[in-house]
Amino acid sequence: MDRFCWYRTHAFLALILVALPAAATQDLEIEARQIANEFVGLLKPALMSAMKSGGPEHAVSVCAKTAPAIAGSLSARTGWQVKRVSLKARNPGAAPDEFERGVLKEFDQQTASGIDPTGLHFSAIDGNRFRYLQAQPVQGVCLTCHGPDIAEDLSTLIRSFYPDDLATGYQAGEVRGAISLTSPLNR
Ligand code: HEC
Repeated sequence: MDRFCWYRTHAFLALILVALPAAATQDLEIEARQIANEFVGLLKPALMSAMKSGGPEHAVSVCAKTAPAIAGSLSARTGWQVKRVSLKARNPGAAPDEFERGVLKEFDQQTASGIDPTGLHFSAIDGNRFRYLQAQPVQGVCLTCHGPDIAEDLSTLIRSFYPDDLATGYQAGEVRGAISLTSPLNR
């Protein structure tokens, strides 16, 4: 093999080694995005119809049961670990780990600098895992239960479920938290 050919073969092999993981992680990101969108697509209508049929008090209990149930069934079906996380968690189980905390802070900074949080996401390889976070922006409807002025009865009810609730005082357009997905890299 002449020198040029040797170089070409090795350059090609190096390209494959770089390109293969990139393609694999791209697939994982697409899969993660679909699962995150499915989560929102199941939860938001349940929340809206509970608000409509029984008001926010009813919606709190629906949210408290439905959100973890959706996360659980998506995890079981897809093999991903699916959860919601927040820097100011309502459910103590939504407290972020170090990786998630870093990404959530980054989302907050980006939003504060004027970037629209809709569709804001981040993915990365973390050790032998693939991780994906999708920001959940605060919309008008969220303010009833996460805003700065929560009705007193509602606030009391929320505190009865979540005595250590931190998830109030938000403004529309901020990032409430994220859907966080984790998968082993080799499945
Ligand atoms: C009717 C009250 C209510 C409304 C309206 C509401 N939430 Fe929540 N939210 C809750 C409750 C209750 C929990 C805790 C659920 C649980 O135990 O997982 C929660 C938890 C969350 C979490 C998980 C992190 C945490 O703090 O525990 C996110 C993210 C979230 N809400 C985003 C939103 C967004 C975005 C909206 C608007 C589209 C919204 N919520 C509207 C009541 C509400």
